[in-house]
Amino acid sequence: MGTYIINGRNRLKGEVSVSGAKNAVLPILAGTVIGANTNTILNTPNLRDVDIMEKILESIGCHVERLDNLIYVDSRNITSIRIPEDLVSEMRSSIILMGAMLARCGEVIISYPGGCEIGPRPIDLHLKALREMGAYIEESHGFLYCKADELKGAEIQLDYPSVGATENIMLAAVRAKGTTLIRNAAREPEIIDLQNYLVKAGAKVSGAGTSVIKIEGVDKFKDVKHSIMSDRIVAGTYMVAATMTEGEVTIKNVNVECLQAITAKLKETGSQIYYDNNSIKVLGPKNIKSVEMIQTLPYPGFPTDMQAQMMSLLSIASGTSIISETVFENRFKHAEELIRMGANIKTVGKVAVIKGVKELTGAKVTAKDLRGGASLVLAGLIAKGTTTVDNVVHIRRGYDSLHRDLKKLGADIIEII
Ligand code: EPZ
Repeated sequence: MGTYIINGRNRLKGEVSVSGAKNAVLPILAGTVIGANTNTILNTPNLRDVDIMEKILESIGCHVERLDNLIYVDSRNITSIRIPEDLVSEMRSSIILMGAMLARCGEVIISYPGGCEIGPRPIDLHLKALREMGAYIEESHGFLYCKADELKGAEIQLDYPSVGATENIMLAAVRAKGTTLIRNAAREPEIIDLQNYLVKAGAKVSGAGTSVIKIEGVDKFKDVKHSIMSDRIVAGTYMVAATMTEGEVTIKNVNVECLQAITAKLKETGSQIYYDNNSIKVLGPKNIKSVEMIQTLPYPGFPTDMQAQMMSLLSIASGTSIISETVFENRFKHAEELIRMGANIKTVGKVAVIKGVKELTGAKVTAKDLRGGASLVLAGLIAKGTTTVDNVVHIRRGYDSLHRDLKKLGADIIEII
């Protein structure tokens, strides 16, 4: 499952560039099914989840070619409406194929994506919206049998600004008859990237990035060339690494606007942060200050995907900090591992109280999920002695070169496959 071995206390210095965003490339790859067209997707990250999405596309008949950071998808020939169960269980976000397949084929069979390490991950909002658009969805024996002779545009009010539900509705609506409005839509930057891709393919989508997205169904699509936005969570992770190690790191190929919530919190810890339009420089402080409260929220609030990384940082701050995780039910699994390294953290439900300690000590720890695993690597960077992080297979789902980038910045880290 892979292990990182880290000898701590090296200051990070230098430059690193950020790859394409996992949470943008996955819905866009699902979208390539819709247009019966050819799609050249650039700046794609090399991640396990992208490997799985590639296998799913091939399993339903798409011709897929991959070269470095380019993925070519020819979706003119779809031969199956069944999404392989083993692949869905490996990547629950494949549920966004429902909307795309209903738009293209009017039918899809997909196994019910289970929960994962961070919570039950229900899909009730997805199913309610697709049914409002005329889809017949039967749930039985762990499978979803979905059929829509004709998807109709609908006015959909989301109870919660779910990223996945927003994406599923957008993908279903681009070929529906009539106009769809999504109200209380997710506003994440990855939704804007999905809209940009769909518009290039000939779809009529507007409003992404706001709470109201409008989609007018069309039936003609074009071949597309699209470059994926850079990964704001990978960028944020490197910003935290620089802050923790009193480093001096420039992160290139970023969209600074997407990083404002992270930048604001890191400034509270004493980091100095400078930026121009596509790079950001972080000077870590000698003494890290605690932060009174971090509450994770839908965008543009503080991202839940950065919560674990901030917990690592606050573990060595002077003073006590509070983190309230409002998005997922069970996203504090990294806390027990950080405690093994000497952190003083108390979690009560979805609130964590972090009392900063002078230093962490290296230990053998285990990654329980993607961002929690990244937080343990960050802790290893500053811990006294050697830290072994097991189960780094989780980390590879969202970081295509974490240990290589950190090593380039001066970290003493090696990967044992
Ligand atoms: C996306 O997950 C991201 N994944 C997550 O990133 C990210 O943490 C999350 O959005 C929030 O920003 C991808 O884009 C592939 P949600 P998603 O639907 O779509 C509840 C990472 O580390 N909910 O916005 O699953 C749900 O249980 C991953 O890169 C319902 O109740 O997130 C959760 O509590 C982790 N019913 C909350 O909404 C539904 O039908 C947010 O979920 C759907 C969601």
